[in-house]
Amino acid sequence: MDSFLIQGGRPLCGDIEISGSKNAVLPILAATLLTREKCIIRRVPDLSDVHFMGKIIRSLGADFNYENGIVTIQAKRLKARGDYDLIRKMRGSICILGPLLARSGKASVSMPGGCVIGTRPIDLHLKGLKALAAEIHIRGGYVHAKAGRLQGAEVFLGGRVGPTVLGTANIMMAATLAEGVTVIESAACEPEITDLAHFLIAMGAKIEGAGSPRMVITGVDRLHGAEHEVIPDRIEAATYAMAAAATNGEVTLHHMRCDHLAAVLDKLKEAGVRMEARDTSLKILPGGEISTVDVSTQPYTGFPTDAQAQLMALMLKAAGLSIITERIFESRFMHANELARLGADIAIEGPSAIIRGGLPLSGAEVMASDLRASAALVIAGLMCPGSTQVNRIYHLDRGYEGMDKKLRSIGAKVKRVKER
Ligand code: EPZ
Repeated sequence: MDSFLIQGGRPLCGDIEISGSKNAVLPILAATLLTREKCIIRRVPDLSDVHFMGKIIRSLGADFNYENGIVTIQAKRLKARGDYDLIRKMRGSICILGPLLARSGKASVSMPGGCVIGTRPIDLHLKGLKALAAEIHIRGGYVHAKAGRLQGAEVFLGGRVGPTVLGTANIMMAATLAEGVTVIESAACEPEITDLAHFLIAMGAKIEGAGSPRMVITGVDRLHGAEHEVIPDRIEAATYAMAAAATNGEVTLHHMRCDHLAAVLDKLKEAGVRMEARDTSLKILPGGEISTVDVSTQPYTGFPTDAQAQLMALMLKAAGLSIITERIFESRFMHANELARLGADIAIEGPSAIIRGGLPLSGAEVMASDLRASAALVIAGLMCPGSTQVNRIYHLDRGYEGMDKKLRSIGAKVKRVKER
């Protein structure tokens, strides 16, 4: 397993292009299964999760080709059963369930495994599909679903902590080919859901209210092929913005959407980060005196859980006590113990992490545990004087396109070390 070797304590300076969004492209790739016609998806990031989704789609019998950020995909014929081993390994693949069921009338996908950030249930996905008149059985680690033509229905998709992003995606996609009208109450409002809706509408779907808690989908008989460019990755942008601020650097992020990051930019300004925000670019400026914050993660438009670990790393610079409360997942503080190896003082009190910032830090060997925790360790390593080795960076390769290359392009001393 590869590692990053980082010589920290240097300001990042320069320009970075933000890639297409991982969390937008995964459901969009699943949506192409809704038609037998060819689809072309552009600005697809070169990520292991994307290639993994490609393998799953090929295992279902569809053609999938990735070249220079462009995916050409065609599901002329479809098997109903995905590859257990592949689907179990990537939570995001659960979003093939809705399209498979809507297209073929039956689907068998493995129950997604839990992961380090939580149990990751799919009860809301199954509640939604049952509301659309699907029959669902769980047997042998698989979800077996079948239906004649799905029937439109009203369904409340809110869970104990609010909406479900991929659950909304699954039900929205299934409803596009259902008989009649489906109303999703407490739909997720993330930009990735809106982007998926734009793609489905380009395929001929009838969807209103995407991006709002109430979505209305009027079923059609069939969908046709379409082309689509994926929105920029707001979490990648948040990650590099915090890395720039953490190193007191001057970095401009290009080809992004500041309106997708309102909560993050608001919190960074509150923390004293100096910035110039334009519609599609963000310049982080040096000289800000980083101060403590108190933040809770929330569904969109609130502060995103996927930027929580990165903010924790930044708060190591803020003298005093910061409080970060994780309201979406039950155990998303794995990075705290690893940050402590760099000298951080972080106490976990139930859903909250209390960070005593402003302490001296120094580089060390640390272990990545999940995608965003790994990003936090990289930010901390860039900030700390001395050498930090981040192990198991395959976690990073899942969600950050060419991270070491992008960081080197803005002056970071980071090297990818192949396992001996
Ligand atoms: C998506 O996961 C993202 N992944 C996650 O990003 C992100 O953290 C999450 O949304 C929340 O924004 C992709 O889009 C591929 P949820 P998803 O269903 O859809 C509970 C990253 O780092 N819940 O919105 O799986 C669930 O346990 C990843 O890029 C149920 O209770 O998340 C959680 O507490 C990590 N029942 C909350 O809802 C269900 O049926 C939000 O989960 C489904 C979810």
